[in-house]
Amino acid sequence: MRRTLAFLFAGIAALGAAAAPIAAPRIVGGPFVVKVTAQTATIVWIVQNDGVSVRTEGEAALASPSYRVEKTTLTGLKPNTRYDYDVASGGEEGKGSFRTPPFGPTGPFTFAAYGDNRTRPDAHRGVINQLIKHGIPDFILQTGDMVANGDDSSQWGVFFDIERELLRRTAYFPALGNHDRNTPYFREFFQVNPYYSFDWGNAHFTVLNSDIATAAADEPARNAFWAEQVRWLEEDLKQNQNAAFRFVTAHHPPITAVARRQAGNPRMTDLLPLFEKYRVTAGLFGHDHNYQHYLKNGIHYITTGGGGAPLYDVDQPPAGITQKVMSIENFVSFRVDGKVIRVEAIAIDGRVIDSFEINAGS
Ligand SMILES: [Fe+2]
Repeated sequence: MRRTLAFLFAGIAALGAAAAPIAAPRIVGGPFVVKVTAQTATIVWIVQNDGVSVRTEGEAALASPSYRVEKTTLTGLKPNTRYDYDVASGGEEGKGSFRTPPFGPTGPFTFAAYGDNRTRPDAHRGVINQLIKHGIPDFILQTGDMVANGDDSSQWGVFFDIERELLRRTAYFPALGNHDRNTPYFREFFQVNPYYSFDWGNAHFTVLNSDIATAAADEPARNAFWAEQVRWLEEDLKQNQNAAFRFVTAHHPPITAVARRQAGNPRMTDLLPLFEKYRVTAGLFGHDHNYQHYLKNGIHYITTGGGGAPLYDVDQPPAGITQKVMSIENFVSFRVDGKVIRVEAIAIDGRVIDSFEINAGS
């Protein structure tokens, strides 16, 4: 039932930030659960094994931690069941729990979306604390930009420290942000290719890699990558037309109220006809550090990029489709119950800043 693999990262951390002094091996990330299906799940925990201190005359020493990623895949699980787990070496730090998804439209389930947690740890902590207070959901969709520089190992330590109490009690499905930089850290921590899809009950979720700049080395290769991803997206949506709900997540939004960024993500904007053709329920995005909600041709487009990064203005809301825009730290909560989804966007101070219902097939 269990397999354990270890990956060692060393030597690729930038020296951009000070980290905790290197001590004895200890869990500094997780445990958390990824790739959860009705029958399988992978538990990941990140051990800080060693590290390097670097100094130069006249400046304070910098510590760059080295991580070992431990993982084990569980098979033969039961659907719609809560599991508690215990990482052998972890003591209290190694305990966690998760719930497997139901098969089909049985029972209600919950998920939450947030993104852009980088750069302001206090704001990031405030959003996570509010989410925990609201009730830990069955899973999280993270809309990208967890850290400011995905090559800097010390920043991942800060991210996992803030998210510890949330991650150990839910399942995690991240999208790749431009600041995450498509590094081995992202792929090994979360055990994902930058684009993938999964099912939860009667809903289908497609997660795209919109960070075209880090997808390939040159323009022809980037164009080929995008063409292949769009081909895969269309096939994925086509094969899941029987789901009650279809969600698409990516870091870069196709629509924005941030004036200086309008027309900034043309490849994402070009996907709107595809979303309409295959009856996507809602798109969930980040990259803009605020909250935005549009309704266009029956599809909800939500940007939740207020997870800690410095806020952006919402100075030019598109006419005719804007439901709500607000420059504030936030997360979005979804409760799926049969053919109805109750959506609430919640600010860092606990205020409900937007709420609406989505009905299957509407
Ligand atoms: Fe971004």
